[in-house]
Amino acid sequence: MEAVLEARGLRKAYPARSGPVVAVDGVDLTLAPGEVLAFLGPNGAGKTTTIKMIAGLVLPDAGQVRIEGRDPHRDPAALARVGAVLEGNRNVYWRLTPLENLEYFGVLRGLSAATARRRGRRMLERFGLLEKARVLTQQLSRGMQQKLAIAVALVHRPRLLLLDEPTLGLDVEAAERVKALIRELAAEGQAILLTTHQLAVAEALSHRVAIIRKGRIVAEDRTQALLAQFSGEHYRIELAVEPDPERRRRLSALGARVEGARVVYAGEEEGLWRVLEVLRPLPLVRLERHRADLTEVFLRLVQEEADA
Ligand SMILES: Nc1ncnc2c1ncn2[C@@H]1O[C@H](COP(=O)(O)OP(=O)(O)O)[C@@H](O)[C@H]1O
Ligand SMILES: [Mg+2]
Repeated sequence: MEAVLEARGLRKAYPARSGPVVAVDGVDLTLAPGEVLAFLGPNGAGKTTTIKMIAGLVLPDAGQVRIEGRDPHRDPAALARVGAVLEGNRNVYWRLTPLENLEYFGVLRGLSAATARRRGRRMLERFGLLEKARVLTQQLSRGMQQKLAIAVALVHRPRLLLLDEPTLGLDVEAAERVKALIRELAAEGQAILLTTHQLAVAEALSHRVAIIRKGRIVAEDRTQALLAQFSGEHYRIELAVEPDPERRRRLSALGARVEGARVVYAGEEEGLWRVLEVLRPLPLVRLERHRADLTEVFLRLVQEEADA
């Protein structure tokens, strides 16, 4: 499938008193239709700068961006293919109503006034904002404002949607609504590049994860593969009693580790049954397969890089 986004070797340094600060240092990213890529990293890692380069807002020092093969820094047609909700920025005008915002930004991105109005109404309906169509945007809740910002970013039907911290500052319910919306859009084929500090959000929504640290990508994989890689085959068996020395010896021969009343087994599933045979008939409290979450993966990767 043709990539919606291809970024290669992106680099950006900002001038500073003590010499240039390299914000992004050779970043490659690709995105296919319908794919959600979570772009994760600690504060100051270069996420927002990367997104701005992809959106055509910050000129890279080196490297290139292609959106459906077009360069947003040279070809205005590329800009019609991308929509962005930037972090912290005013993505919408607070003194306009939601409908006026959609009309304004729709026309700005090349729609006729009539088309912008028609699409704007449809988007408000879809995003559950129709009854707020004529209320000033500043009077909407933070969650509604964020949904409006996403609607505005989509009004010209871009192929690529960039969302920088889309659930930041939202209450739990509003964050859930925004998450559901992102999932729906992806299911319809929208390519979405998403940055977030909320790793549970990334884990719930993304097909792939790219982790950036100090301007460089330190890991990139399918979300499930990354989680599996860090989880390993790892079972924890909790017993009501500590196994006796004879059992401990047999467990250790099977490669299981005994810690008090807990047995940790990092082998294959078939071997697990041999471990359980040895334990029979000791009373079991719990048997679980350990699974890493994205927070664990993230912390380990960022830590590993720091140690290297
Ligand atoms: N406009 C700017 N001028 C100077 N330095 C900047 C500017 N924007 C970002 N930086 C610096 O670039 C680095 C990356 O920032 P940013 O892209 O905002 O990271 P993130 O979004 O991952 O937190 C940081 O060191 C930040 O201080
Ligand atoms: Mg940022």
